[in-house]
Amino acid sequence: MTWLITGGAGYIGAHVVRAMTEAGERAVVYDDLSTGIAERVPDDVPLVTGSTLDGALLSRVLADHQITGVVHLAAKKQVGESVERPLHYYRENVEGLRVLLEAVTAAGVASFVFSSSAAVYGMPDVDLVTEETPCLPMSPYGETKLAGEWLVRATGRATGLATASLRYFNVAGTASPELADVGVFNLVPMVFEKLTEGAAPRVFGDDYPTPDGTCVRDYIHVADLAEAHVTVARALQAAPGRELTLNIGRGEGVSVRDMITRINETTGHHRPPTIAPRRPGDPARVVASADRITTELGWKARHDVQDMITTAWEGWLHRHPEAAQGSPRG
Ligand code: WQD
Repeated sequence: MTWLITGGAGYIGAHVVRAMTEAGERAVVYDDLSTGIAERVPDDVPLVTGSTLDGALLSRVLADHQITGVVHLAAKKQVGESVERPLHYYRENVEGLRVLLEAVTAAGVASFVFSSSAAVYGMPDVDLVTEETPCLPMSPYGETKLAGEWLVRATGRATGLATASLRYFNVAGTASPELADVGVFNLVPMVFEKLTEGAAPRVFGDDYPTPDGTCVRDYIHVADLAEAHVTVARALQAAPGRELTLNIGRGEGVSVRDMITRINETTGHHRPPTIAPRRPGDPARVVASADRITTELGWKARHDVQDMITTAWEGWLHRHPEAAQGSPRG
């Protein structure tokens, strides 16, 4: 099998490339490098720079590299930005996917893995979110992921393409410092940034109906997430026409306050957080039931939250050596 990995120069995509090649699969990366970083792609993996809106280029790449499966991660992923630029998000995430699927089906590709998100669930009112929990996305970003799942599923049913939509919960950590997330859009890097500035981390709201009043999430190590892609890719390859929708989480809820306490202990900065107002649109609790992927495919996360924080901090120090505890801070 040769897998085309769109978005393979991104934070999650680069981990998927690494996991796939380490598992013995051939990979080709397709990335527009808008947020991806070419250096994340291993030297022996071809990198094609292009947009998923470019159907002609995609068709050429699928034929030239005799692609048999696609893992599609290339997308815009900032919830707040999607509220301000919905048309941009629909174009990149939905139209880009439609163009890609057209090329994929024309080329006779057999398997398609789609990067979806827990954002499809919106504000779930359940302890553990199963794949049957109703999807009520709260942002254009979440809408584009849900619409993407529909496109993928309908195409699979119409053409026999084996498909999987993977709903990622809160991704953190890194397999190696060079592959770390460089965006500062999520809790862990946002806390790191504050600590680096010598400022207090912020808790967005401590009056939620949760045990300590702060929001609860299900964090998943990016290396585990990448392994899940290998497991799913192989399951599709083994069962033409298969259709999967799977949560990728750990089933363990961790509060914002707990995360900040652990980050303080790990980094040695020990700055008590300040309480800021709630961030609009934040659900109190989003925790996966990861039973389906375990039961159906035997996959289970191996890394815990401490592994995520430790490796994310190593990645942060790689780019921000001044953040090391005891060194002068600005
Ligand atoms: C986690 C919790 C914040 C920063 C988003 C998307 C989701 C997925 C992952 C892509 C929340 C709180 C944060 C800070 C804080 N993305 N927080 N202080 O919002 O759960 O999920 O990213 O697929 O779709 O919605 O992740 O890391 O932004 O926030 O208190 O400085 O941390 O309010 O409760 P979120 P997050």
